[in-house]
Amino acid sequence: MTATKKMKFMVSVFAFAVFAFVLPATSLADLPVPAHIIPPVGEHSGEHVPQPIDFPHDRHVNDMKINCMYCHTYARRSAVAGIPPTSKCMGCHKMIATDKPRIQKLTEYWEKGESPKWKKVHDVPDYVHFSHEKHIRKFVDKADFPVEDVQQVCGLCHGEVKAMTVAEKVKPLNMGFCVRCHEANDGPGDCWKCHK
Ligand code: HEC
Ligand code: HEC
Ligand code: HEC
Ligand code: HEC
Ligand code: HEC
Repeated sequence: MTATKKMKFMVSVFAFAVFAFVLPATSLADLPVPAHIIPPVGEHSGEHVPQPIDFPHDRHVNDMKINCMYCHTYARRSAVAGIPPTSKCMGCHKMIATDKPRIQKLTEYWEKGESPKWKKVHDVPDYVHFSHEKHIRKFVDKADFPVEDVQQVCGLCHGEVKAMTVAEKVKPLNMGFCVRCHEANDGPGDCWKCHK
């Protein structure tokens, strides 16, 4: 073999090794943690919340690469992330998959001028103050973290939503979880910041 051929061979062996071993090991199980964040510790076994229509996050985020904040628009500028209005869905589903029962059900809501009554999956008690905006600003906007990868930041508190067929709660979001992350990442420690 010539030197270049050898080089090419080595590269393809290496590429194969990466493909065969590294990819499966890091595949759908975990999202990468952005380098500027020490991740919060704790898991929760996700409970299934029945929804009026099973909305497949996996198809929209994983297959179609739609950004989390395209639908959850308010995350970077208000306390709540927001659930998208049906009009946003219909921008695509007036045309796409109109033969599917779930899309026909969605279209019925739309024609009646209603939205499916999505049930809450995550809900901290009322005495807890939480704001999406503060966290997205700190970890995305102020950190110059690419917005295309925002799901890695969402994933700290919501897990790997892109692999979910229906949204589930997979992080505890209890006081220990929040406080440990604040301690590790210079977040506020005063009781009254989280309890008003
Ligand atoms: C095409 C629109 C769309 C995209 C893109 C999308 N979502 Fe959603 N999301 C929804 C809808 C609709 C619901 C309500 C149904 C449900 O809870 O399963 C929802 C629910 C959720 C919930 C649960 C809300 C609750 O009640 O607690 C979380 C968390 C969530 N999404 C996070 C994400 C993250 C993270 C991403 C990106 C990886 C993402 N979503 C991308 C439409 C979208
Ligand atoms: C950017 C375009 C786009 C938007 C916006 C969008 N979808 Fe979809 N959705 C798709 C595509 C593409 C598919 C896959 C269709 C297929 O497999 O035939 C899909 C599939 C689905 C399916 C599965 C249908 C089935 O049974 O196979 C459901 C349910 C669904 N979308 C609901 C929603 C809801 C609810 C919203 C709004 C929160 C929404 N979609 C927003 C493009 C979109
Ligand atoms: C630091 C933790 C944290 C991060 C990061 C985070 N969330 Fe949340 N999220 C929460 C908590 C806590 C709740 C429950 C809030 C409540 O009950 O008032 C929640 C609720 C939600 C909800 C349902 C209620 C609402 O606010 O509309 C959606 C949708 C959601 N998150 C989407 C996202 C998306 C998309 C991202 C990334 C852009 C994200 N979250 C990032 C902690 C987080
Ligand atoms: C990924 C780590 C992380 C997690 C998890 C996390 N936080 Fe934070 N939080 C931070 C950091 C860092 C800041 C400081 C942001 C800044 O400096 O602007 C912050 C800021 C806040 C603020 C704003 C305080 C103010 O100055 O107004 C509140 C409120 C808050 N967090 C509540 C919570 C609650 C409640 C939870 C759990 C449901 C939680 N956080 C989970 C890292 C985290
Ligand atoms: C980073 C945010 C954060 C800070 C700081 C924080 N808490 Fe909490 N706290 C929470 C969350 C979230 C819950 C809700 C836990 C749950 O849902 O189980 C909670 C729950 C509680 C409860 C109810 C516990 C129970 O078991 O019912 C008490 C009491 C409390 N906190 C007191 C405090 C005190 C005192 C401080 C200061 C030393 C403090 N918290 C600081 C986030 C925080």
